[in-house]
Amino acid sequence: MTTKAETVLVTGGAGYIGSHMCVELLQSDRQVIVLDNLCNSSAASIDAIQRITQKQLSFVEGDVRDSDLLARLFAQNEIDAVLHFAGLKAVGESVAQPIKYYDNNLNGTLRLVEVMSAAQCKTLVFSSSATVYGIPDSVPIDESTVTGAINPYGRSKLMVEELLTDLYEADPSWRISLLRYFNPVGAHASGEIGEDPNDIPNNLLPYISQVAVGRLEKLNVFGNDYDTPDGTGVRDYIHVVDLVKGHLKALEYLAKGPKLAIHNLGTGNGYSVMEAIKAFEKCSGTTIPYEIASRRLGDAAVSFADPTKANTELGWQAQFDLDRMCEDVWRWQSTHPTGYPKA
Ligand code: NAD
Ligand code: UFG
Repeated sequence: MTTKAETVLVTGGAGYIGSHMCVELLQSDRQVIVLDNLCNSSAASIDAIQRITQKQLSFVEGDVRDSDLLARLFAQNEIDAVLHFAGLKAVGESVAQPIKYYDNNLNGTLRLVEVMSAAQCKTLVFSSSATVYGIPDSVPIDESTVTGAINPYGRSKLMVEELLTDLYEADPSWRISLLRYFNPVGAHASGEIGEDPNDIPNNLLPYISQVAVGRLEKLNVFGNDYDTPDGTGVRDYIHVVDLVKGHLKALEYLAKGPKLAIHNLGTGNGYSVMEAIKAFEKCSGTTIPYEIASRRLGDAAVSFADPTKANTELGWQAQFDLDRMCEDVWRWQSTHPTGYPKA
Protein backbone atom coordinates (compact mmCIF):
# COMPACT_ATOMS: atom_id res chain seq x y z
CA MET A 1 0.00 0.00 0.00
CA THR A 2 1.37 3.45 -0.86
CA THR A 3 0.59 6.46 1.27
CA LYS A 4 -0.44 9.75 -0.30
CA ALA A 5 2.32 12.39 -0.38
CA GLU A 6 1.76 15.23 2.04
CA THR A 7 0.72 18.49 0.35
CA VAL A 8 2.09 21.66 1.87
CA LEU A 9 1.08 25.24 1.10
CA VAL A 10 4.07 27.57 1.41
CA THR A 11 3.08 31.22 1.65
CA GLY A 12 6.00 33.47 0.72
CA GLY A 13 7.68 30.50 -0.93
CA ALA A 14 9.45 32.60 -3.58
CA GLY A 15 11.33 34.55 -0.90
CA TYR A 16 14.69 33.96 0.72
CA ILE A 17 13.78 31.43 3.41
CA GLY A 18 10.67 30.08 1.66
CA SER A 19 12.63 29.12 -1.47
CA HIS A 20 15.09 27.08 0.61
CA MET A 21 12.11 25.51 2.36
CA CYS A 22 10.59 24.45 -0.96
CA VAL A 23 13.81 22.65 -1.91
CA GLU A 24 13.76 20.62 1.32
CA LEU A 25 10.03 19.88 0.99
CA LEU A 26 10.36 18.64 -2.59
CA GLN A 27 13.44 16.61 -1.68
CA SER A 28 11.43 14.98 1.11
CA ASP A 29 8.82 13.96 -1.51
CA ARG A 30 6.11 16.37 -0.42
CA GLN A 31 3.84 18.17 -2.90
CA VAL A 32 4.37 21.92 -2.75
CA ILE A 33 2.05 24.81 -3.57
CA VAL A 34 3.61 28.27 -3.32
CA LEU A 35 1.46 31.36 -2.82
CA ASP A 36 3.47 34.56 -3.18
CA ASN A 37 2.61 38.04 -4.45
CA LEU A 38 6.28 38.65 -5.39
CA CYS A 39 6.31 41.96 -3.49
CA ASN A 40 9.82 41.15 -2.25
CA SER A 41 10.93 38.32 -4.52
CA SER A 42 11.24 37.06 -8.05
CA ALA A 43 9.59 34.16 -9.86
CA ALA A 44 13.13 33.26 -10.97
CA SER A 45 13.54 31.61 -7.56
CA ILE A 46 10.72 29.19 -8.45
CA ASP A 47 12.56 28.11 -11.62
CA ALA A 48 15.75 27.68 -9.59
CA ILE A 49 13.99 25.50 -6.96
CA GLN A 50 12.72 23.25 -9.75
CA ARG A 51 16.18 23.07 -11.35
CA ILE A 52 17.85 22.12 -8.07
CA THR A 53 15.33 19.44 -7.19
CA GLN A 54 14.38 18.31 -10.70
CA LYS A 55 10.81 18.37 -9.39
CA GLN A 56 7.80 20.55 -10.10
CA LEU A 57 5.86 22.67 -7.68
CA SER A 58 2.67 24.60 -8.21
CA PHE A 59 3.17 28.37 -8.13
CA VAL A 60 0.26 30.75 -7.58
CA GLU A 61 0.98 34.47 -7.80
CA GLY A 62 -1.34 36.17 -5.34
CA ASP A 63 -1.82 37.77 -1.97
CA VAL A 64 -2.31 35.83 1.23
CA ARG A 65 -4.89 38.45 2.29
CA ASP A 66 -7.08 37.41 -0.66
CA SER A 67 -9.64 35.13 1.05
CA ASP A 68 -11.34 34.11 -2.20
CA LEU A 69 -8.07 33.00 -3.72
CA LEU A 70 -7.17 31.09 -0.57
CA ALA A 71 -10.58 29.42 -0.49
CA ARG A 72 -10.14 28.32 -4.11
CA LEU A 73 -6.69 26.91 -3.33
CA PHE A 74 -8.09 24.87 -0.44
CA ALA A 75 -11.10 23.72 -2.49
CA GLN A 76 -8.90 22.58 -5.38
CA ASN A 77 -6.18 20.86 -3.33
CA GLU A 78 -6.09 18.60 -0.32
CA ILE A 79 -3.69 20.69 1.72
CA ASP A 80 -2.31 18.96 4.80
CA ALA A 81 -0.26 21.79 6.31
CA VAL A 82 0.69 25.41 5.79
CA LEU A 83 4.12 26.95 6.26
CA HIS A 84 3.48 30.67 6.59
CA PHE A 85 6.48 32.77 5.52
CA ALA A 86 4.62 35.56 3.71
CA GLY A 87 5.21 38.83 5.46
CA LEU A 88 7.11 42.09 5.41
CA LYS A 89 10.33 42.13 7.41
CA ALA A 90 12.25 45.41 7.22
CA VAL A 91 12.45 46.94 10.69
CA GLY A 92 13.16 50.52 9.52
CA GLU A 93 10.36 50.47 6.96
CA SER A 94 7.99 49.15 9.63
CA VAL A 95 8.71 52.24 11.76
CA ALA A 96 8.04 54.55 8.80
CA GLN A 97 4.98 52.62 7.52
CA PRO A 98 3.48 50.76 10.48
CA ILE A 99 0.01 50.33 8.98
CA LYS A 100 1.44 48.62 5.90
CA TYR A 101 3.19 46.15 8.23
CA TYR A 102 0.21 45.50 10.48
CA ASP A 103 -2.05 45.10 7.46
CA ASN A 104 0.22 42.63 5.69
CA ASN A 105 1.47 40.61 8.64
CA LEU A 106 -1.71 40.54 10.76
CA ASN A 107 -4.40 40.46 8.09
CA GLY A 108 -2.39 37.95 6.06
CA THR A 109 -2.41 35.56 9.01
CA LEU A 110 -6.03 36.24 9.94
CA ARG A 111 -7.33 35.53 6.42
CA LEU A 112 -5.17 32.42 6.23
CA VAL A 113 -6.38 30.85 9.48
CA GLU A 114 -10.01 31.68 8.69
CA VAL A 115 -9.81 29.80 5.41
CA MET A 116 -7.75 26.97 6.94
CA SER A 117 -10.35 26.57 9.66
CA ALA A 118 -13.21 26.41 7.16
CA ALA A 119 -11.24 23.82 5.14
CA GLN A 120 -10.47 21.78 8.29
CA CYS A 121 -6.74 22.15 7.67
CA LYS A 122 -5.36 22.94 11.11
CA THR A 123 -1.61 22.41 10.87
CA LEU A 124 0.37 25.64 10.70
CA VAL A 125 4.02 26.61 11.07
CA PHE A 126 4.58 30.35 11.56
CA SER A 127 7.80 32.27 10.88
CA SER A 128 8.32 34.21 14.07
CA SER A 129 11.52 35.93 15.07
CA ALA A 130 13.94 36.50 17.91
CA THR A 131 12.82 40.10 17.53
CA VAL A 132 9.92 39.21 19.88
CA TYR A 133 12.47 39.19 22.74
CA GLY A 134 13.31 42.88 22.13
CA ILE A 135 16.51 43.82 23.97
CA PRO A 136 17.10 40.76 26.18
CA ASP A 137 18.26 41.18 29.80
CA SER A 138 20.49 38.12 29.57
CA VAL A 139 21.77 35.50 27.12
CA PRO A 140 21.40 32.78 26.00
CA ILE A 141 17.74 33.44 25.26
CA ASP A 142 15.36 30.57 25.94
CA GLU A 143 11.67 30.45 25.08
CA SER A 144 10.60 31.48 28.59
CA THR A 145 12.42 34.80 28.26
CA VAL A 146 9.95 37.64 28.60
CA THR A 147 8.86 39.05 25.25
CA GLY A 148 8.58 42.71 24.37
CA ALA A 149 9.08 43.85 20.82
CA ILE A 150 10.44 47.34 20.24
CA ASN A 151 9.29 48.20 16.71
CA PRO A 152 6.14 47.67 14.57
CA TYR A 153 7.68 44.71 12.73
CA GLY A 154 8.48 42.97 16.01
CA ARG A 155 5.08 43.83 17.46
CA SER A 156 3.38 42.39 14.37
CA LYS A 157 5.22 39.09 14.99
CA LEU A 158 4.27 39.12 18.66
CA MET A 159 0.63 39.93 17.84
CA VAL A 160 0.49 37.03 15.39
CA GLU A 161 1.95 34.72 18.05
CA GLU A 162 -0.73 35.95 20.46
CA LEU A 163 -3.61 35.58 18.02
CA LEU A 164 -2.49 32.05 17.14
CA THR A 165 -2.24 31.22 20.85
CA ASP A 166 -5.80 32.50 21.36
CA LEU A 167 -6.94 30.46 18.37
CA TYR A 168 -5.40 27.31 19.84
CA GLU A 169 -6.99 27.97 23.24
CA ALA A 170 -10.39 28.35 21.63
CA ASP A 171 -9.92 25.27 19.45
CA PRO A 172 -7.28 22.84 20.78
CA SER A 173 -7.55 20.64 17.71
CA TRP A 174 -5.06 22.99 15.99
CA ARG A 175 -1.43 22.01 15.54
CA ILE A 176 0.58 25.22 15.59
CA SER A 177 4.32 25.72 15.62
CA LEU A 178 5.77 29.17 16.33
CA LEU A 179 9.41 29.18 15.24
CA ARG A 180 11.52 32.07 16.50
CA TYR A 181 14.39 32.48 14.06
CA PHE A 182 17.63 34.05 15.16
CA ASN A 183 19.74 35.46 12.26
CA PRO A 184 19.20 33.44 9.06
CA VAL A 185 22.10 33.73 6.61
CA GLY A 186 23.75 31.54 3.98
CA ALA A 187 22.41 30.06 0.78
CA HIS A 188 21.78 26.70 -0.84
CA ALA A 189 25.03 24.84 -1.66
CA SER A 190 24.13 24.83 -5.37
CA GLY A 191 24.52 28.64 -5.46
CA GLU A 192 21.21 28.79 -7.37
CA ILE A 193 19.09 30.41 -4.65
CA GLY A 194 20.01 32.94 -1.99
CA GLU A 195 19.10 36.24 -0.40
CA ASP A 196 18.33 39.01 -2.90
CA PRO A 197 17.35 42.21 -1.09
CA ASN A 198 15.37 44.75 -3.15
CA ASP A 199 17.22 47.80 -1.91
CA ILE A 200 20.39 48.46 0.06
CA PRO A 201 20.54 45.56 2.54
CA ASN A 202 19.70 46.22 6.19
CA ASN A 203 21.27 43.02 7.44
CA LEU A 204 24.93 42.33 7.98
CA LEU A 205 25.75 39.35 5.75
CA PRO A 206 23.94 40.59 2.62
CA TYR A 207 25.64 43.96 3.13
CA ILE A 208 29.09 42.39 3.46
CA SER A 209 28.54 40.21 0.40
CA GLN A 210 27.47 43.20 -1.70
CA VAL A 211 30.63 45.03 -0.60
CA ALA A 212 32.66 41.95 -1.54
CA VAL A 213 31.14 41.82 -5.01
CA GLY A 214 31.67 45.55 -5.55
CA ARG A 215 28.05 46.74 -5.42
CA LEU A 216 28.66 48.72 -2.24
CA GLU A 217 31.76 50.64 -1.30
CA LYS A 218 32.23 49.83 2.38
CA LEU A 219 30.50 48.42 5.41
CA ASN A 220 29.46 50.63 8.32
CA VAL A 221 30.05 48.77 11.57
CA PHE A 222 27.30 50.01 13.87
CA GLY A 223 29.18 50.57 17.12
CA ASN A 224 32.41 49.17 18.55
CA ASP A 225 31.80 50.26 22.12
CA TYR A 226 29.40 47.51 23.21
CA ASP A 227 30.18 45.36 26.22
CA THR A 228 31.34 42.46 24.02
CA PRO A 229 34.84 40.95 23.54
CA ASP A 230 35.71 43.21 20.56
CA GLY A 231 33.08 45.91 21.18
CA THR A 232 30.90 45.02 18.16
CA GLY A 233 27.42 43.46 18.25
CA VAL A 234 27.08 39.72 18.72
CA ARG A 235 24.41 37.61 16.96
CA ASP A 236 23.43 33.99 16.47
CA TYR A 237 23.82 33.50 12.70
CA ILE A 238 22.12 30.35 11.47
CA HIS A 239 22.46 28.73 8.05
CA VAL A 240 19.19 29.00 6.15
CA VAL A 241 19.34 25.30 5.22
CA ASP A 242 19.63 24.34 8.90
CA LEU A 243 16.76 26.71 9.60
CA VAL A 244 14.40 25.18 7.05
CA LYS A 245 15.29 21.67 8.20
CA GLY A 246 13.97 22.78 11.59
CA HIS A 247 10.59 23.31 9.88
CA LEU A 248 10.52 19.71 8.64
CA LYS A 249 11.16 18.62 12.23
CA ALA A 250 8.37 20.92 13.39
CA LEU A 251 5.97 19.31 10.90
CA GLU A 252 6.92 15.86 12.22
CA TYR A 253 6.36 17.10 15.77
CA LEU A 254 2.93 18.47 14.91
CA ALA A 255 2.02 15.18 13.22
CA LYS A 256 2.16 13.56 16.68
CA GLY A 257 -0.88 15.49 17.88
CA PRO A 258 -2.57 18.83 18.47
CA LYS A 259 -0.47 21.41 20.29
CA LEU A 260 0.82 24.94 20.24
CA ALA A 261 4.60 24.83 20.43
CA ILE A 262 7.21 27.57 20.57
CA HIS A 263 10.83 26.91 19.58
CA ASN A 264 13.92 29.01 19.08
CA LEU A 265 15.84 28.18 15.92
CA GLY A 266 19.43 29.25 16.48
CA THR A 267 22.82 27.63 16.84
CA GLY A 268 23.48 28.77 20.40
CA ASN A 269 26.72 30.47 19.27
CA GLY A 270 27.27 34.20 19.09
CA TYR A 271 29.61 35.88 16.59
CA SER A 272 30.59 39.54 16.53
CA VAL A 273 30.43 41.81 13.50
CA MET A 274 34.24 41.74 13.32
CA GLU A 275 34.27 37.93 13.42
CA ALA A 276 31.70 37.84 10.61
CA ILE A 277 33.84 40.20 8.50
CA LYS A 278 36.94 38.06 9.07
CA ALA A 279 35.12 34.81 8.26
CA PHE A 280 33.72 36.31 5.07
CA GLU A 281 37.10 37.63 3.97
CA LYS A 282 38.66 34.22 4.51
CA CYS A 283 35.98 32.32 2.61
CA SER A 284 35.78 34.74 -0.30
CA GLY A 285 39.42 35.76 -0.61
CA THR A 286 38.27 39.41 -0.65
CA THR A 287 38.93 42.35 1.63
CA ILE A 288 35.94 44.08 3.14
CA PRO A 289 36.57 47.79 3.64
CA TYR A 290 34.74 49.02 6.74
CA GLU A 291 34.32 52.05 8.92
CA ILE A 292 33.19 52.30 12.52
CA ALA A 293 29.89 54.18 12.64
CA SER A 294 27.60 55.06 15.54
CA ARG A 295 25.34 52.45 17.10
CA ARG A 296 22.10 51.67 15.23
CA LEU A 297 19.02 52.66 17.21
CA GLY A 298 17.26 49.65 18.75
CA ASP A 299 20.19 47.21 18.40
CA ALA A 300 20.93 44.79 21.24
CA ALA A 301 24.60 44.33 22.15
CA VAL A 302 24.32 40.55 22.28
CA SER A 303 21.64 38.11 21.14
CA PHE A 304 22.00 34.37 20.89
CA ALA A 305 19.68 31.45 21.41
CA ASP A 306 19.41 28.69 23.89
CA PRO A 307 18.25 26.08 21.32
CA THR A 308 17.88 23.25 23.89
CA LYS A 309 14.10 23.03 23.52
CA ALA A 310 14.31 22.54 19.74
CA ASN A 311 17.20 20.09 20.23
CA THR A 312 15.26 17.90 22.65
CA GLU A 313 11.62 18.27 21.53
CA LEU A 314 12.14 18.45 17.77
CA GLY A 315 15.33 16.39 17.55
CA TRP A 316 16.85 19.26 15.57
CA GLN A 317 20.28 20.83 15.79
CA ALA A 318 22.05 23.27 13.47
CA GLN A 319 24.98 21.66 11.59
CA PHE A 320 26.73 24.45 9.69
CA ASP A 321 29.30 26.84 11.14
CA LEU A 322 29.95 30.48 10.27
CA ASP A 323 32.62 29.60 7.66
CA ARG A 324 30.17 27.42 5.80
CA MET A 325 27.50 30.14 5.96
CA CYS A 326 29.95 32.64 4.43
CA GLU A 327 31.15 30.17 1.75
CA ASP A 328 27.58 29.57 0.64
CA VAL A 329 26.67 33.27 0.65
CA TRP A 330 29.74 33.97 -1.47
CA ARG A 331 28.95 31.20 -3.98
CA TRP A 332 25.47 32.69 -4.47
CA GLN A 333 26.59 36.35 -4.51
CA SER A 334 29.62 35.89 -6.75
CA THR A 335 27.60 33.98 -9.35
CA HIS A 336 24.61 36.38 -9.05
CA PRO A 337 26.23 39.79 -8.42
CA THR A 338 22.93 41.58 -9.00
CA GLY A 339 20.69 38.85 -7.62
CA TYR A 340 18.05 37.05 -9.68
CA PRO A 341 17.61 38.14 -13.30
CA LYS A 342 15.15 41.04 -13.31
CA ALA A 343 11.96 40.56 -15.32
P1 NAD B 1 11.40 37.48 2.05
O1 NAD B 1 10.90 38.89 1.92
O2 NAD B 1 12.54 37.06 1.20
O3 NAD B 1 10.20 36.47 1.82
C1 NAD B 1 8.87 36.78 2.14
C2 NAD B 1 8.02 36.44 0.92
O4 NAD B 1 6.66 36.71 1.21
C3 NAD B 1 8.40 37.26 -0.31
O5 NAD B 1 8.59 36.39 -1.40
C4 NAD B 1 7.21 38.19 -0.52
O6 NAD B 1 7.03 38.48 -1.88
C5 NAD B 1 6.09 37.38 0.09
N1 NAD B 1 4.96 38.16 0.60
C6 NAD B 1 4.99 39.20 1.45
N2 NAD B 1 3.74 39.62 1.71
C7 NAD B 1 2.91 38.82 1.03
C8 NAD B 1 1.51 38.74 0.89
N3 NAD B 1 0.69 39.60 1.51
N4 NAD B 1 0.97 37.77 0.11
C9 NAD B 1 1.80 36.88 -0.53
N5 NAD B 1 3.13 36.91 -0.45
C10 NAD B 1 3.69 37.88 0.32
O7 NAD B 1 11.72 37.26 3.60
P2 NAD B 1 12.42 36.01 4.31
O8 NAD B 1 13.71 36.47 4.87
O9 NAD B 1 12.35 34.82 3.46
O10 NAD B 1 11.43 35.85 5.55
C11 NAD B 1 10.37 34.91 5.57
C12 NAD B 1 9.63 35.04 6.88
O11 NAD B 1 10.53 34.84 7.96
C13 NAD B 1 9.01 36.43 7.10
O12 NAD B 1 7.76 36.26 7.73
C14 NAD B 1 10.00 37.09 8.04
O13 NAD B 1 9.38 38.07 8.84
C15 NAD B 1 10.46 35.92 8.88
N6 NAD B 1 11.79 36.12 9.48
C16 NAD B 1 12.85 36.46 8.68
C17 NAD B 1 14.09 36.70 9.26
C18 NAD B 1 15.27 37.09 8.42
O14 NAD B 1 16.23 37.65 8.97
N7 NAD B 1 15.29 36.82 7.11
C19 NAD B 1 14.25 36.59 10.66
C20 NAD B 1 13.15 36.23 11.43
C21 NAD B 1 11.92 36.00 10.82
N1 UFG C 1 25.40 45.57 11.43
C1 UFG C 1 26.42 46.43 11.08
N2 UFG C 1 26.37 47.02 9.85
C2 UFG C 1 25.36 46.78 8.95
C3 UFG C 1 24.34 45.88 9.32
C4 UFG C 1 24.38 45.30 10.57
O1 UFG C 1 27.34 46.68 11.86
O2 UFG C 1 25.36 47.35 7.86
C5 UFG C 1 25.46 44.91 12.75
C6 UFG C 1 24.28 45.22 13.66
O3 UFG C 1 24.51 46.40 14.40
C7 UFG C 1 24.20 43.96 14.52
C8 UFG C 1 24.68 42.85 13.57
O4 UFG C 1 25.41 43.51 12.54
O5 UFG C 1 25.12 44.05 15.58
C9 UFG C 1 23.53 42.08 12.93
O6 UFG C 1 22.63 42.98 12.32
P1 UFG C 1 21.45 42.46 11.35
O7 UFG C 1 20.73 43.68 10.85
O8 UFG C 1 22.01 41.53 10.35
O9 UFG C 1 20.55 41.60 12.32
P2 UFG C 1 19.67 42.01 13.59
O10 UFG C 1 19.99 41.04 14.67
O11 UFG C 1 19.80 43.44 13.93
O12 UFG C 1 18.19 41.81 13.08
C10 UFG C 1 17.77 40.70 12.28
C11 UFG C 1 16.53 41.09 11.51
C12 UFG C 1 15.40 41.31 12.47
C13 UFG C 1 15.22 40.07 13.27
C14 UFG C 1 16.48 39.70 13.98
C15 UFG C 1 16.32 38.38 14.71
O13 UFG C 1 16.76 42.28 10.77
O14 UFG C 1 14.24 41.58 11.77
O15 UFG C 1 17.55 39.57 13.05
O16 UFG C 1 15.84 37.42 13.85
F1 UFG C 1 14.26 40.27 14.18
